[in-house]
Order: sequence, then C-alpha cells, then structure tokens
Amino acid sequence: MEERVDHLAQEVGQAVLGTPHRNPEREASFRRAAAESIVLLKNEGMLPLDKNTCTSFFGRVQRDYFYVGYGSGGDVNAHHCISPMEAVAERGYCHNEPLAQTYAQWCAQNPIPKSDWGQWPAAYPEMPITEEAVRQAALASDQAVIFLGRAVGEAMDNRPEPGWYYLTAQERQLLGWVTTWFPHCAVVVDAGGILDLSWLEEYPVEALVYAFHGGMEAANALVDVLYGDAQPGGRLADTIARRYADYPSADHFGDPDFNEYREDIYVGYRYFETFAPEKVRFLFGFGLSYTTFSLQNRQTSPFSLQVTVTNTGHRTGRQVVQVYAQPPQGKLGKPVRNLIAFEKTAPLAPGQSQTLAFSWKPETLASFDDTGITGYPYAWVLEKGEYRFYAGEDVRNAPLAGCWTLEEDRLVEQCSSEAGPAQSFLRLRPEGENVPFGEGAVPVPVEENHRREEILTQLPQAIPFTGRREIQWEQVARGEATLEEFVAQLTPEELEALTRGEGRMDSSFGIEGNAGMFGGTLPSLRELGVPTVITTDGPAGLRLRHYTDLLPCATALACSWDRELVRTLGNSFGEEMVRMGSDVLLGPGMNIHRDPLCGRNFEYYSEDPRLSGEMASAMVAGIQSVPGRSACIKHFACNNQETNREHNDSRLSQRALREIYLKGFEICVKQAGPKVLMTSYNQINGVWGHYHSQLVTQILRQQWGYDGLVVTDWWMQPEQDPDFPNVYNDAYRIRAGVDVLMPGEGEHDTGKGDSSLLTSLGKENGITLGEIQRSAMQVLKFCLRQKLG
Ligand code: BGC
Repeated sequence: MEERVDHLAQEVGQAVLGTPHRNPEREASFRRAAAESIVLLKNEGMLPLDKNTCTSFFGRVQRDYFYVGYGSGGDVNAHHCISPMEAVAERGYCHNEPLAQTYAQWCAQNPIPKSDWGQWPAAYPEMPITEEAVRQAALASDQAVIFLGRAVGEAMDNRPEPGWYYLTAQERQLLGWVTTWFPHCAVVVDAGGILDLSWLEEYPVEALVYAFHGGMEAANALVDVLYGDAQPGGRLADTIARRYADYPSADHFGDPDFNEYREDIYVGYRYFETFAPEKVRFLFGFGLSYTTFSLQNRQTSPFSLQVTVTNTGHRTGRQVVQVYAQPPQGKLGKPVRNLIAFEKTAPLAPGQSQTLAFSWKPETLASFDDTGITGYPYAWVLEKGEYRFYAGEDVRNAPLAGCWTLEEDRLVEQCSSEAGPAQSFLRLRPEGENVPFGEGAVPVPVEENHRREEILTQLPQAIPFTGRREIQWEQVARGEATLEEFVAQLTPEELEALTRGEGRMDSSFGIEGNAGMFGGTLPSLRELGVPTVITTDGPAGLRLRHYTDLLPCATALACSWDRELVRTLGNSFGEEMVRMGSDVLLGPGMNIHRDPLCGRNFEYYSEDPRLSGEMASAMVAGIQSVPGRSACIKHFACNNQETNREHNDSRLSQRALREIYLKGFEICVKQAGPKVLMTSYNQINGVWGHYHSQLVTQILRQQWGYDGLVVTDWWMQPEQDPDFPNVYNDAYRIRAGVDVLMPGEGEHDTGKGDSSLLTSLGKENGITLGEIQRSAMQVLKFCLRQKLG
C-alpha cells in the first residue's frame, strides 16, 4: 500500500481549488442533524446554560475543534467551519472574555502542525494553564465548560494510552482545578468514538455532553444544545463501559496478525446485558433530554406493539423508543437483548403525546446455528420457547411489553457452511440458569470447506465471441441491442479492462481529488460509448480538492436514530455529487464497532447490526434517490481494526459472522439495494475480502440476491488461489466474483496492469471467458442502472 500512501500525501499537499460556497438552507439542515446526534449523558440541572450568565470555557478544543476523523473518510475541504467559541461570541452569549482571548491568542500562536498520512495527532497539545489562572476565572463566573477532544482514523487505531483513549495528566489537572474552583462544571467530549470516562468517578462534573464529530455545523449545533436553542437529540449507538478492559473484545484486539473474536455474538450490549450489567457506565440507547417523557406499551399482536410517548416535562423534545427481543436460551444460547425495532417521535410539546407502532417479522428473531445442535446445521432457526419483547428508552430501561411462545423449533432459512474459521478457538456462551449468566466457553466449529466444488459447479457459460459488430453502448441503453450482444463483441483485453479501474486515483476524467475511474478505461471502450464512472470518498463528505459539505460522521448519525433525517442528508449528498460530477460515493461504511479502539469507528454506525443496517439503508436510499448517483457500502467484511489492516485476519465463527458482522450489510442490501459494494482490506478467516468467493458469491449474491457491482478496496494483495493453482491475483479475484479492482493495476506490478487474468485464461482450471464476461457484464449493468436512475 506504499504507493497509495505516497499518492495521498501528494494530494494532501495540493491547494484546494475554487472558493467555498455558503448555502444557508443546507447549513441549517446539517446543523439540525448535528444537534439530533449530540448525546447528553449527565445533567444535574446545569444545562442548558443561561445566555446571560457568564461561563468560562476551558480547553483548546473550544477553538481547534475536531469536526471529523482522519483518512479517506475525513479528509474533506469543508465550505466553512466555525469553532464553538466563535459561535458563542458571534451570538453574544455571556462568557469569560479574557479567558476566551487567552485561548484564542495561544491557539493562533501554536497552530496544529501539518502531519503525514496516518500520523495525525489524536489530541492537540493543550494550552498550559495554572491553578491561579483557573481561580481567577472562577472570580468572573460561577460556571465552566471544559472541552476535551480526540480524533483517530484510517490506518491509525486509538491506543489505550494518555492522549489517546485516556486523558492526559494535563487534562486531569485541568478537570481537578476547574471542579475545585467552580461550583458548576460541564464537560464536552468531541470525539469520533468512545473514550475512557472513568474520570467521572473522580471529578464532580455536573453535566457531560458527548458530541460525536458533527461535521461543518458541529459547533453551531453544540452551542445550540449547550444553551437550549436545540434539544440534545442523540442516544448512544454504543455501550460505554466502565473501563476499557470491560469490553469483551479487549484481550483480542490489536494483534497485527490475527484476532480471534472470542466474544462471538456477544458484542456491545449483547455482552453486557447477558453477562456483566455492572460493567456499564452508560447504556446502549441512553441519552438525556431537557424534558422528560413517559412511555406506555401495548402489545397489539404477537409481532407488533404500540408505544405512547407523552412529554411530561417543560420543553419540547423528541424521544427514541427502542424495542428489544429476549429469545429463549434454547440449545444455542442467546443474548438476552437484541434490538429489533426503533422509532423517534416528532418534536412533542409539553403535555403532547404520540403513539408509535412497531412490528417485526418472526424471522428477525432467528439465530444462526453453525453447529447443528438444533438439528438444522448452517441454518437460521427459531428455537422453541418464550420470546419476550421489551420497549423503552434504552436497552435496560425498557419494560416487558409482550410475549410470543413457539411450541416447536422452526427452520427459517437453510443456508450452507461458508467462510468459517480453519482453526478452532474458544468462544463465549452463557452458562447457568439466570441472568446475568456465567461466562462459559465452547470450541468454535471449523469450516467444512467445499469452495472448489461450489465454484466448479457454478461456472458461468461463456458468450461466444462475435468479433467487432460496432454495437454501441447507447443502443443497449435504448433497448435496441442486448447486453449479451454488446459483450460478445469485446476482446479479452477489453473485458479485462472493464474489470479494473483506470489505474490511478485522481482520474483526469473526473473532478480533482476523485478516488478513481472505472468503466470506459480503454479508448476502444469509450469509442463504443462505455461511460467513465467517477468514484469519490465518503462517507462524511465528498473528499475532493474542492470545497464540499462536511456532514456529521456515521456514529453521530446513528446516535440520531432518525432514518428520515439520514435519508434527507443522503439526498443532499447525492445533489452535491451531481454538482461535482461524482457517480459513486464510497460510503456509507458499515462495519460493526467491535472494539472502541478501532480507528475508523467514526466512519461506521454502531455496535448493533440493526441500527447500522437501518442507518445505512436510509443513507443509501437518500443518495440513490438522486438520478444517476450510487452509494457503495463498505467494507465487506469485518474491517474492525486498522493496525496492519491489509494483512490482519479476523477469525470468527460463522454464527458471529451472520448474526453480527454481516447482518447490517444484509439489511441494507435487502432494504435499499445499494448499487455498489466494496470488499475489505483484511482477511476473514484466512481469506482476503477481495478473494472471498464465499462471502461475495455464496452469501451476498446467492443467498441475499444481490445483483449489484462488487469492487475491491483500493488495491489488493497478491495471492494464489489455494484451490486452483493456475489462478492468482486478478484471476483469483474474478473467480471470487469481485468484479472491479480499484483504482486498477496491482501494487505488485510494473505499472502495466496485472496480467494474471489473461495469463490464466484457457489454462486447466484457469479463469474462463464466462467468468471474465460475468464481471464485465456487472460493470455494464451498473452503467445501465445509473443511466436509468
Ligand atoms: C479506504 C476506502 C476508501 C479508499 C479510496 C481506502 O484506503 O479503505 O474506504 O474508499 O481508500 O480512498
């Protein structure tokens, strides 16, 4: 990946083109979205702040805010960004002016140095301050707000160290002095993921606001929330544990070579609620409001219920209602809470009520049996017993709202054994009779691998080569010729060129800073009218050498629990894609927050697959509602760590894969029909994502019915197909059903493109013409869909 690193470094050094563009209507909608995602975790009455009471603001993040994380998902040239302190001053809210000036001058004199790709600062050096200065500030005002900020990103995991996941000694000292001298102290955390909050046990802060990176309107939204101009609309999309070590992945995260997912399906709240409720500091789904609500549940059928929410407080607000299922333990063992549905109310005035209706299919409650213990190996199964449903305001404050009893085990969907681990390891399972369960361990079954036979029996028929008939792509688009006829006239070289990008980022066919082009990569293809397709990062904004909108990051959006809002933002993304000539947005990212230290968590939604799947569906639907624009969901799959990400192997059971790590993708594929999907850099049970026929062909295409395009993440690793010695690199990839290598050419080659595809063509068990045509057809089908909207 060195090539990529250099390339990006060059790009970073280049000037931004054009001028920023302010659009009040769009800014207002991003501002609302950011406020809907801010989570109020603690409030002993200090918030909202009074605009006429003087407040002292501490911490350089008041000026140098983190609007987004780092890397391809963050490197956006936003039209504008103002800092929280600028927003406070601009609105004339009473604050400790000399203190604000001290910070402003210091920040101006100590700018954040430019950094190389992957070497970004997780925290900025803090302004030195004395206890005497804090005491002086307290003479001017009774209340203080401390800003804490962190950002990590691509190729850079967070670290369990001060200045990273933990506070620095200087930050602690500041907390100590401010809580000593000020009667009232609130803290704002500006971050892309979960940070250690154990310091709450030591310092008497009265209020805690968790603001996940909120994009270019982040500071305006934060100030709106701090002063009560907007409600804190967010609810946590992840559990905040008491200590890092409390996360069940903590002992098996960060290894450069491989990580065994020993916690299995017990990720996030599924672990805490089942085994260790006492380890939770803030519950999944939790968030306070400036008003209060009462909830009344009523089961309306075995698979539906209604919840009436009434605003019992004194301010207008919205509540998020969450429905969880507790399936019977059965033979498989199960998490005692599983999110199955959620809705957010409209803004409710004091005294106002709204009744929300929830329904789900029984299949939603099924588990994946990867052992055969239920009698249904490699199948989705409903085990007999009592299913309980809880509805409420977070994972634990959700009373029993309904039940359903199943008399006999039921097969929901027979699948096959795919993508399991080659070696066994121990995985967690509940032990004992009562909640919380004891932590038992059982061996993970190893995979029964039948990939060679699967591939050989599914080889596509080749379309016989007709020679050039000058059928134009436009004729296919108009329905005057078939796709097959068009493909039949293409040479192997042209077919090969359709299965890879042009070979570089920043294609001259698109706007400056784009991520690469595919489609009409050869002059002869373009002469036939094959379009050039321009891709751009994503997911929080268009990463270009032009000014573009910067939206709240994915985790922030998940905290809004608001599908409609996310769909609207997706639509505005799509509109900007039209303006910038981007055809495919490389997002949303939808990997699971397995561990709070994963550097790219800010690009992903949640620890929960349903919330991730629904949010991604809303984003995809929004983007693709704009004609000719596509979303590319990524990274398929288990890209849950950045350390050695191109080589790391995520080892996990088929059950964890299906129920947790693939589930969100499945929901999104089935609900929203993304036109493109990107594989991941990492290996999944010993096979790189870009070679994973079991994930891509067997599960994604055959079982879920996905008919879109599959592209690699940028570049791939050279490798020989273990089942077919004549097949390697691009041929291995095409055999897996991964249609397009992006941005094209291998890092391992000489710059002329990887010859492995054509070299293996026609060899014994080598790649077949039909396989190359199959991927080429996917590219052309994609182009047709783009054209048809
Ligand atoms: C990232 C992708 C991104 C691509 C293009 C890769 O390094 O993993 O998420 O879309 O680069 O910039």
